[in-house]
Amino acid sequence: MLTLTGLTCRFGAVTAVDGVTFSVPTGQVLGIIGPSGAGKSTLLRMINRLQAPSAGRIDCDGLDVTALRGRALRRWRGEAAMIFQNFNLIPRLDVVTNVLVGRLGHLGALRGLAGLFSAAERAMALGLLDRYGLADRALERAGLLSGGEQQRVAICRALMQSPRFVLADEPVASLDPRNSRMVMDALAAIAREAGLTVLVNLHDLALARAYCDRLVALAAGRVVFDGAPAALSAARIVEIYGMDEIALAEAGLAPAHA
Ligand SMILES: Nc1ncnc2c1ncn2[C@@H]1O[C@H](COP(=O)(O)OP(=O)(O)OP(=O)(O)O)[C@@H](O)[C@H]1O
Ligand SMILES: [Mg+2]
Repeated sequence: MLTLTGLTCRFGAVTAVDGVTFSVPTGQVLGIIGPSGAGKSTLLRMINRLQAPSAGRIDCDGLDVTALRGRALRRWRGEAAMIFQNFNLIPRLDVVTNVLVGRLGHLGALRGLAGLFSAAERAMALGLLDRYGLADRALERAGLLSGGEQQRVAICRALMQSPRFVLADEPVASLDPRNSRMVMDALAAIAREAGLTVLVNLHDLALARAYCDRLVALAAGRVVFDGAPAALSAARIVEIYGMDEIALAEAGLAPAHA
């Protein structure tokens, strides 16, 4: 169980995340939604400790994450794998090597770059690529793959670090609908099959509803909705995003019973 208590991040006069409190049970797929600038990225970055909180706490199964330093902090960052909108692969390296890069936290960077990954690590990387439909692409340069394929490689790389959490910040924002669904399928499978906890920032409400067990909406850094996707009514969406009902209906977002 991951618990955020009064988590706050200020940048000068701007309060990006403002007293956020919620808990995420292990194995949940939690979608974080809300308008641009609501604080979604800052929230994920604080959980990974890429961004220092100004106030509040992050706890995980009795561990005070906010207090971690040095080696313990590096271990935590390995356990909270991040996925980004732009994949962050090394384009000129082949796919399987990009996946193996996920192990670099576990061994000296020099040993890794010298091509000294163990046979077991290579087998693990190939197994992950196979699971996500990319086994036949293993030896291609990563930069030649489509965006959706590259994001699935990035997911395999994240899983190579044996994380407990996957923190995905707009993982499908630059993908077409078909590739978006394949990437969301992969994220949902991680929670279902491997029992990992997935926190995913999403702009696309239809995908958020379809794939997440639970949604938390932020507006101006505060939690303004926390519940099952089915409980997110058209009226709440209007409140959160400030859209009018007509624009919402045109976007196909109004629930059938509204
Ligand atoms: N490093 C920073 N320095 C100063 N202000 C920042 C920094 N990072 C974020 N902010 C500000 O904090 C607020 C929240 O930003 P954040 O990127 O977390 O929002 P977001 O919900 O992820 O938005 P988007 O949907 O556009 O990605 C914004 O007002 C942003 O300008
Ligand atoms: Mg963001």
